[in-house]
Amino acid sequence: MKILGIETSCDETAAAVVEDGRHALSNVVASQVDLHKQYGGVVPEVAARSHIEVVLPVVHEALEKASVTWDQIDGIAVTQGPGLLGSLLIGNLTARTLALTLKKPLYAVNHVVAHTFANFLIESQPQFPMLSLSVSGKHSDILLFHSPLEYTLLGQTRDDAGGEALDKVAKMMGLPYPGGISLSKAAINGNEHAYELPQAHLGDSYDFSFSGLKTAVLRTLQAEVGGDFRTPSTQIPGLLTQIQINDMSASFARTLYETLVSKLVRAYHEYHPKTVVIAGGVAANQRFRDEVSRQVPLEMNYAPIPFCTDNGAMIGAMGYFLAQAGRTVEPLNLPADPSLPV
Ligand code: KG4
Ligand code: ZN
Repeated sequence: MKILGIETSCDETAAAVVEDGRHALSNVVASQVDLHKQYGGVVPEVAARSHIEVVLPVVHEALEKASVTWDQIDGIAVTQGPGLLGSLLIGNLTARTLALTLKKPLYAVNHVVAHTFANFLIESQPQFPMLSLSVSGKHSDILLFHSPLEYTLLGQTRDDAGGEALDKVAKMMGLPYPGGISLSKAAINGNEHAYELPQAHLGDSYDFSFSGLKTAVLRTLQAEVGGDFRTPSTQIPGLLTQIQINDMSASFARTLYETLVSKLVRAYHEYHPKTVVIAGGVAANQRFRDEVSRQVPLEMNYAPIPFCTDNGAMIGAMGYFLAQAGRTVEPLNLPADPSLPV
């Protein structure tokens, strides 16, 4: 069964053809990074306009690269939410129109849940129960999957998402957008133990909180540059040395990954999953992967990086399981939902 997956929830226009939920026959991503760089972050109106321009070429390229024709596509899966409304609407309307005119079944996919399905797109197939730590710019969740479509949300962030915290701390230090990647590069040359930063454990909960950690970074940087708590964060970048930036990047990343992985490990010991996976844009990070491999007492298999950051293949993979379960949606009646919950 071949599913076309379409993803436009934020700043990547993406489409892929996925066979049987596990083979990505193509995976085309048009990134808008260069468009948003000058603004230091994603501008929703600019993102939506760019999706309009490239969504059909991206879909056609996905079919072409997979060497399939429309006749060979068994269904269309699209991100319903969460994400930016203007961005979501472009993928949503494209998928609905294609489904209606080409008479293909349509499947509505939750972007956050779909991130975990990147782990079906590799040789070693996950076994259930499967524990997933999924961390992106919008969410940080620990999910226990009992089967592909049945899961329990064990914990989530109470404030910033893991990727969001990386992006904000990067911005605080004047590192260029996209912050998570810039900070990770700086961290490679830094001392992970240069700064001791606080971890929020929140008792027995599997929830996360990163706002205190972020504030601790700000206070530490203010002290480093000889200012006080009134030093505006916008003044800090120009006052930091490259060594301070590298050291803070490394110390902050270590603290973030240790916090995330410590909860994953605790959940592992409580629920005894057969497979543990990580997902979401932050799962592309090698330091994060190393921390997981070090602490999780199971052999880990990681999805290739293009399946961790936003892509159409994870949407197509989850769409396959929705198709197997007969969970089609009506093309005339599928609202985009910017705050679709897990
Ligand atoms: O899943 P994703 O591509 O988009 C959302 O659904 O949000 O995740 C984006 C997040 C951003 O916060 C970005 O900084 C982070 O993932 N990210 C990374 C890396 N690549 C993307 N963080 C650390 N290291 C990376 N290599
Ligand atoms: Zn995402």
